Parts: sequence; structure tokens; C-alpha cells
Amino acid sequence: MKRLQDKKILLGVSGGIAVYKAVELLRLLVKEGADVSVVMTKNAERFVTPLTFETLSLNPVRTDMFSMSERGKISHIEDPGLADLIIVAPATGNIIGKFASGIADDLLSTIFMALASPILIAPAMNNRMWRSPAVVRNVSRLKEWGANFVGPATGDLACGTAGEGRLETPENILATAIALLKKGEDMAGINLLVTAGGTHEYIDPVRFIGNRSSGKMGYAIASAAKRRGANVTLVTGPTDIPPPEGINIVQVTSANEMCEAVLAIAGGVDATIMAAAVADFSPVSQAGSKIKKEEGGISLQLSKNRDILKEMSKAGIGGVMVGFAAETENLIANARKKLKEKGLQLVVANDVSEPDKVFGADTNKVVLVEAEGEKEFPTMSKREAASVILDRLVQRYLKVSND
Ligand code: PMT
Repeated sequence: MKRLQDKKILLGVSGGIAVYKAVELLRLLVKEGADVSVVMTKNAERFVTPLTFETLSLNPVRTDMFSMSERGKISHIEDPGLADLIIVAPATGNIIGKFASGIADDLLSTIFMALASPILIAPAMNNRMWRSPAVVRNVSRLKEWGANFVGPATGDLACGTAGEGRLETPENILATAIALLKKGEDMAGINLLVTAGGTHEYIDPVRFIGNRSSGKMGYAIASAAKRRGANVTLVTGPTDIPPPEGINIVQVTSANEMCEAVLAIAGGVDATIMAAAVADFSPVSQAGSKIKKEEGGISLQLSKNRDILKEMSKAGIGGVMVGFAAETENLIANARKKLKEKGLQLVVANDVSEPDKVFGADTNKVVLVEAEGEKEFPTMSKREAASVILDRLVQRYLKVSND
């Protein structure tokens, strides 16, 4: 069976000696059943003519930002959302730089700016260029924005040297593209409950006890799961993050409200990921009017809140249960304790001893802790962290077959 049947792929080709390999990649994509449209930069045209790509793709090749597509719409606005995947191969240091800097002065870079499809970038350049601070920064920025990369490979380079910089083989680019497209659907039909943000425990009508959670981690997980096809319900404490499209959002304020909301939803889900920083304590009573300044200060009496995850485990609801552990010491030991006490399958442990590096940050450094062992990841964007958490959830707990 053809693995890319019914898939629409936009192949972006920028100028470098490796353009000839993009011809072979196109052949492989078409052989797997993909409908491929090619966009070439002016420099790419100097290496191979559009006619070669046109003949193999059976589609017109576009090189000009101001041409109208066959259906009469402006091509660069129309294409990005229509493709199931955009592949840029070869991607030169120049086009990577344009993507990362918001420069849109040709069709391919303009398509990137209007991007609404997943993208796979296959770089090819001289090894010193690949290691240059500009390219390293640009690649890391694009990864943070969600771009996927394959290669470059190591070997002989066109400039006569050897090193890292060769375009990955067409076969490997094809395999990565197929894996990415599969991943885009690997949570289809899964009902997922995610919590995010901190809770506010009001003392009086204007003051509350809160915590530093921004909601970024939980929102990243919810959005990533949505992209992978899951039906996502996000129970969120107060945050500044705009609600992601296509996700069922339940807004709550206090730990008690979050508990009620989660328990009401958890009966019908396949998995739960609790990324919210739920207050462990709340004031025993809330003053009906603003508390006036007292000479000697005031004392607050706090009582322990219900533990949401524990209640879910006890009730046998929530499906596969993933909790977080935010720890300032003994990260793994404390995460293991939570795994056991809260009846979880997986704990995402993050060290918050330097709170600014996690709370409100765009990055996180997580360890996935399970009964049998743990896996540590380097610092990565919260988007990437969401991806590794979901990968584990899908592969270990939700996957129904191996094809
Ligand atoms: O929101 P960001 O700024 O992006 O920051 C991300 C984060 C640091 C908030 C996130 O990565 C994180 O660690 N979330 C969990 C924070 C937390 O409350 O950890 P905990 O170790 O106190 O709780 C352990 C687990 O029990 C958590 O999954 C928590 O949601 C859950 N819990 C906690 C209290 C409670 N009453 N009921 C619960 O179910």
C-alpha cells in the first residue's frame, strides 16, 4: 500500500548543489502516492530547471510570488494551509535565516510566514556554515516554533571538505516525512483531559493566594495533543494565554473549582495530564468585604485542599493518569513518591529550585518517571517537552497497533 496516498505535500527547494537530490525525493514522494506541488527559489532554478520538477510531480512549479495559482487565488496564502506537510529540501543557510528572521521576500519564505501546516526542514550547507552562531541560533529558534528537522548528514561536501552539512538522503527524508504525518494522527479518537495554570484561593474579594504557574506547560500539551488529533478538554486556572482553537476550555479559579470540574469530566476520558499547579491549601473562610489594615497584622487559617489526582485514582476515573511533580529537592525520589501515592502511570518531574527557569518560562527540563525507571531530557521548549510527554503516553499506554 502507498504510504502517502491522499497526502498533499508542498516541496520547497532552495538553491544549492543538493537540488538534484530533491528531484529524487520528489520521485519517492510521488511513488508513495503523494500529490506534490513544488516551489523553487530563484537560486534553486540555477541548478535544476522547473521543468524537471514539473514533469515528475505532474503539477505546475511555482517560483514567483506574484503569480496567481490555477484556482485564481494568491498562491502563497492558499498553499500553506492546504498541504498536509511542507518539506524544504535542500534548505540553505539563507532560507533558514529568512524563516527565522521573518523575512518574506520570495514565494518560499512568504509561504513559511503564512505557515499553517507542519514543516520538515532538511538543511544542506558547508559544515562551518552549519556550525556558525547565526545558523545555530536560527535552527534553535525554528525548532522552538515547532519546525521539524532531518539531517544534515556527515560526509563529503560539495566545497571539497568533509563534515556535517550534507543533505540527508532522500530515503531518510521520506521516512521522516511519513513518521511525521503518522504522528499527526496518532491521537485521533483519544479523549484527553489536561489541566493548566495555577489556582487562586481568595482571602477576601480582592486578595488571593496564588502561585507562579503561567499555564504555558499545560497549554503546550493541550495544543500538541489537538494537533495530533485528540479531543482535548483543558481545565485551566486564570492565565494570560489566549484559548487555543478547537479545544474545549473550562475556566476555573480555585483548587476546589478545579477539583469539581476535573471529577465531572474524568469519567469519560482515555487519559489525564495534570500540569496545573493546584493550591494544596486554601483559607478556611473568605472575608465578605476587603480586610482592613490591622495594626499587628492578621493570621490566616488554611485547610488542606482535596487531592484531585488521588480522588480520581480512588474513583477509577481519568484513564491513563499522568501527573507532574514540581520539586525543589530530591526530584526523582519525590516524583516516585507521587507516582505511588497518587496512583499514576507516569510522572513528569521538573526541578523548580530555580523557579524562573520553569514557571512562566518558554523552556523546561523534564524527567519522565515510571515504575520501571526514568528518562531524563535536556532543556527544551515547552512545545518540545509536550511532544516527548505525548510520545510516551501514546507509545506506552494508548497505542493499539504497531502499524
Ligand atoms: O505553568 P507554567 O508556568 O508553564 O509552569 C509549569 C509548571 C511548573 C506549573 C508545571 O510544569 C508543573 O510542574 N505542574 C505541577 C505543579 C504542582 O502542583 O506540582 P505538585 O508536585 O505540587 O503536585 C503533583 C501533582 O498533583 C500535579 O500533577 C498536580 O496537578 C496534582 N495535584 C496537586 C495538588 C492537588 N490538590 N491536587 C492535585 O491533583
